[in-house]
Amino acid sequence: DMLTIPAQCVENSRIAELDYNNIEFGKIFSDHMLVADYKEGKWENPHIRPYGNMSLSPATSSLHYGQSIFEGMKAYRDANGDILLFRPLDNFHRLNKSAERMCMPALTEDIFMQGLEQLLRLDAAWVPPTAGCALYIRPFMFATDEFIGVRPSSSYRFAIFTCPVGAYYGQPLRVAIEPHYVRSVEGGAGYAKAAGNYGAALYPARQMQERGYHQLIWTDAKEHKYIEESGTMNLMFVLDGKLVTPPVSTTILAGITRDSVLQVARDLGYTVEERKVSVDELEEAHKAGKLQEAFGTGTAATIAQIATIHHNGLDMDLPAIEDRKISNHVAAELDKIKTGQAPDTHHWVHRI
Ligand code: COI
Repeated sequence: DMLTIPAQCVENSRIAELDYNNIEFGKIFSDHMLVADYKEGKWENPHIRPYGNMSLSPATSSLHYGQSIFEGMKAYRDANGDILLFRPLDNFHRLNKSAERMCMPALTEDIFMQGLEQLLRLDAAWVPPTAGCALYIRPFMFATDEFIGVRPSSSYRFAIFTCPVGAYYGQPLRVAIEPHYVRSVEGGAGYAKAAGNYGAALYPARQMQERGYHQLIWTDAKEHKYIEESGTMNLMFVLDGKLVTPPVSTTILAGITRDSVLQVARDLGYTVEERKVSVDELEEAHKAGKLQEAFGTGTAATIAQIATIHHNGLDMDLPAIEDRKISNHVAAELDKIKTGQAPDTHHWVHRI
């Protein structure tokens, strides 16, 4: 093995504190984490150690200038209790796309994949056996130069920690189309999974939350005319029987759940359209009774049903969740693939 695991790592597990039937998203962390550092042009010293604090200089450049990126992925259990990672290489490639845009070094596939495998083997007990639950995996990279001045850092840290999770959103969502603020512009870094993209979205999202909506729907920065994404999720609609979603672009995160949902929908024989969706089109379809389904897709959110879309003083209420044929069908099928109950025809499942 590339990684050495100190003996004290396997003792003192906190797993007994975990109640699998009552998991709050993102608050419980498994026993261990993987850490690797980049110095003088190369990644070095990948190792696993107990989950815990890191000591950082106040001048750590990522804290000041935002060279900080992350990924989200999940591991599941199959019927035999084996651990299945879903599309980890896609997360690896996306991490490196984000790294390039943020002037950060590419990670090596060895550190990512071998590190992940060894971490999950060591913390296997933390992968929930419960339906609807998973082990959420958070790989991330940040600049570590102790330096005041705006330039790319020369040193970085990569780490992975994990958390057993249940549902990210507890109920069907009320979302509102954002008429003023923007998340992302052409030529910007909106397609990167960069920490700052999420930070900049908090204030507009909170304003919508104060008006009674769970999340907002971003529109394009030029005209506020076309639907983009929802900040923690890509967005999909069923319009007159067809599954429709905005195409990925430099302003939209290329969601891995998004891609999986589109592929599974095609496999199940549904018509899929990746094209621009205007706010006007949604309103007209709703009036004509043709806005049949709306949902978000994301690793954390999985498939999150949208109950209501607000725009311009109007709440568009959508059909009951149980009547949503396409999203319910695709969600169930995708779940089967992730947990080894349906054939993995696209080689998405990586068995640990
Ligand atoms: C995910 O879906 O995994 C994300 O990273 C989105 C959110 C939790 C920030």
